Amino acid sequence: MTSTEPSLRRLANDQVRALASAVGLGTPQVAEELVTELLGVAGTHPLCTPPHWQSDISDDQTPVEFSIAFDTAGNPTLRMLGAPVARPGDGQVAAALRLLATWADRYQLSLDRFEAVRELFLPPNAQGFGLWFSVIFRPEPEFKVYLDPNARGGAQAPALVAHALRVLGLAPAHPVIAHHALARPQDRFAFFALDLHAGAQARVKVYVAHHEAGAEVAERACLAVPGVDPEQVSAFCRTVGGPLPFTTRPLISSYSFSDPGSAVPDNYSLYVPVREAVADDEVTLNLLRTVLREQGLRPDVLEQALRGIARRPLAEGVGMIPHVSLRTGSTRQGLTVYLSTEAFHTTPARSRTGHHSHA
Ligand code: TRP
Repeated sequence: MTSTEPSLRRLANDQVRALASAVGLGTPQVAEELVTELLGVAGTHPLCTPPHWQSDISDDQTPVEFSIAFDTAGNPTLRMLGAPVARPGDGQVAAALRLLATWADRYQLSLDRFEAVRELFLPPNAQGFGLWFSVIFRPEPEFKVYLDPNARGGAQAPALVAHALRVLGLAPAHPVIAHHALARPQDRFAFFALDLHAGAQARVKVYVAHHEAGAEVAERACLAVPGVDPEQVSAFCRTVGGPLPFTTRPLISSYSFSDPGSAVPDNYSLYVPVREAVADDEVTLNLLRTVLREQGLRPDVLEQALRGIARRPLAEGVGMIPHVSLRTGSTRQGLTVYLSTEAFHTTPARSRTGHHSHA
C-alpha cells in the first residue's frame, strides 16, 4: 500500500492516530492495529466508491465509529465501536467470531458469559445486526461484544433478554427495566452487551431504544438506577436534544450491571442522537462547550479531536458528532462524545433557522 492510497484503512488509521494524540494515549500503534483488524476486508475499500456492505454502525455505512469518554474530572478515554464486514460468501457473524477468537487469544479475554448466552442471540439464520465489538484503548485494551435482542425477531426480544439475564444471574433486573424503560409501545430492546474481561467489574449492559420520545421518557427510565438524579438526565436531554421529541432517531437508555452479586443496575446512560436536532456540527460543538463548561471541564480535547478527524468545516455538514451520552449512577459517570469517520458520505448542513442552534 502506498501512503497516499485513499482506502478506509488509511483514513481510519490517520483518524485514530489524531484522536490518540488528542486524548494523550501513549500507544497509537496498538490502536492502529486494532482498527485495522476490526475493519478487516473493509479496510482496503477505496473511499471514492460507495461501500458494498450494510452497517448500522454509522449513517454512511462505515463499519467503525470512534468516541471519547470523559470522566467527571475531564480525563478522556478513546474508544471505538465496530462491526466486522464479511467477505463475499461469508457471514458477518462468522467473520466477527474469527476476530473474537484472535483477540481472546492475544488479550486473554474471558468468553464465559458470551458462551453462556451466544446461542440465544445467534440462532441459525439470525435476524438483525449480528455481532459488534467495542474497544477501549487503555494500556491494556478492553473489549465488549454487542448482541442483538431482535435476533429472533422483534416480538421475541423481551423474552430473549429475560432469558439471557436469567442465565447470567440477573433475572430480577428484567421487570425493573420493563417497568421503567419499556412503558410505551415505541420502547424496544436495542442491544445486549458484555464486557470480555474476567475482573469483578465486568459488566452486562442492556440498551433500550425509545422512539418518538421526549425528555420525560428518559426521566422515567433513569429511575431504575439508585441515586440517579432525573433532573440532571432531563436537563442534559433538553440541552443537547433541543425541543424533543425526535421523530427519526430514538433516544437510547442503557443499564449497566457491574456487581456480579447484584441485579440492581449501577449505571444509567442516555444517548441523544444530537445530529437529528441540530443544523450542523458547529452547533453541536457549541452545545458541548456549554455542557463541558457547566461541569467545570475544558473543551480543548474535544476541539483537538475534531480538528484531527475533520475533512471539512464543521458548519458544512451534520453528523460528525452523531450521539452524545450522559453516564450517571455510582460507576463510570461522565460524558461521551461519538465521532463519525464520514469516510463515505457527509450529511449536508440544514438551515439554522428552525433548528436547535446555539451557535
Ligand atoms: N448507528 C446506530 C444508531 O445511530 C448505532 C449506534 C452507533 C449507536 N453508535 C451509537 C447508538 C452510539 C447509540 C449510541 O443508532
